[in-house]
Amino acid sequence: MTDTAAAGQLETTDLADPVMFSNPYPRFAELRRNAPVSRAFSKQLLGGTGYMLTRHEHVLLLHNDVRFSSDPTSQGSSFLMRHLPRMFRLLTSSMVYKDDPDHARLRRLVNKAFTPRMVQQMTGEIERIVAELLDKVDARGSETVDLVAEVAVPLPLSVISTMLGVGDQDRNEFHVLMERFVVRLGSGSAADAMRAVPTARKLYAVLERLAEQRRAQPDDGLISALLAASEDGDSLSPDEVMAMIFLLMLAGHDTTANLIGSSALALIEHPEQAERLRADPALTPRAVEELLRFTTPVPCGASRTLLDDVEVDGTTMPKGSKVLGMINSANRDETVFERPDELNLGRDPNRHLTFAFGKHFCLGNQLARLEGQIAIGELVRRFPAMRLAVPREDLRYKPVQALRGFRSLPLRLR
Ligand code: HEM
Repeated sequence: MTDTAAAGQLETTDLADPVMFSNPYPRFAELRRNAPVSRAFSKQLLGGTGYMLTRHEHVLLLHNDVRFSSDPTSQGSSFLMRHLPRMFRLLTSSMVYKDDPDHARLRRLVNKAFTPRMVQQMTGEIERIVAELLDKVDARGSETVDLVAEVAVPLPLSVISTMLGVGDQDRNEFHVLMERFVVRLGSGSAADAMRAVPTARKLYAVLERLAEQRRAQPDDGLISALLAASEDGDSLSPDEVMAMIFLLMLAGHDTTANLIGSSALALIEHPEQAERLRADPALTPRAVEELLRFTTPVPCGASRTLLDDVEVDGTTMPKGSKVLGMINSANRDETVFERPDELNLGRDPNRHLTFAFGKHFCLGNQLARLEGQIAIGELVRRFPAMRLAVPREDLRYKPVQALRGFRSLPLRLR
């Protein structure tokens, strides 16, 4: 039994511990069993210490219950937030960090632009980009290729850039700037956040230029659709359009890149599952659901702030607390998934929470699924001999706790 006063006695996990990147699953299994409400320390995700939920049912609760606010300023803004330059605040104040009614309004407007039809229409283009990228690495013969830099990152970056109408030169600049911005901002230190200001300024200038171009010359791309989206006389303000383009570029590429990289490794480490997929291509959609569960490229969504005292499993978390819902733990919950640590490409049902749940359910889930299905299906089909070119223990994860993915994945394809 624990209560608010005993919060200090709850177990604390340091999310910067290297094992929480490489193999957090034994730790999560223990917490799900013995301490489903525990404490986590994370400069990046919590700015310090907060609560951590690890069971599937509790992560669902966090995404469903309005007492868990997505707005980090809902209980008063931090010193850092108050003192950030305006353009910097703009880039970090996307709908991910908003509650209703503001969130519902933004989501309704973006839904008008980012439609399932628009995603479906990308199928041929995704197939073309995948074929082109794989032809290029294939031509390297027996050389080592870095799957992350040469396939996993360029695919989603090209797809979302094509949808937004971001040209070749801008998309690479965007990628470099965004990576720098995320790492600096993500480190959780005020000094790093301030160092990210020039990057934010450059990003802002690129976004402004893109929006201006489309305002002057509308096309059938996503930026024009965002500019035109309106409902009952309401539409996105110029700042909101820029925040949305930034969010789509950011959420739309490194997440899917990590899915592709981590899935390739999972299949290399489970050759019998790769063979199963090769033998039965119709299994691809279900296989990708399992890879989404198994690799969980976004280990947890944004931290939530409690608008009230909330009791979970006998522990009362006080109003104002920060809480993380660990999707990577929920996706291994043995009360929901049979033999959760096994990769089973035929798993059905598969109630993974990889795209979260409820109001903030991932806007890009269909696009990510489509890219994953085409890229992973083709990788497995074309490169049955694909294997690691370095010892497994040499692989390094990116130092960003909000995303789980490799810095590089050196492979031999032939
Ligand atoms: C495998 C790839 C992906 C994963 C695992 C993923 C995961 C997630 C998760 C967990 C959330 C919820 C965050 C929270 O509640 O705090 C989210 C939200 C979001 N995702 Fe994704 N995502 C992926 C790909 C994409 C793509 C390709 C796009 C866009 C092109 C995208 C756009 C968004 C947006 C805009 C939101 C915010 C939704 C809202 O606040 O209403 N995501 N994603």
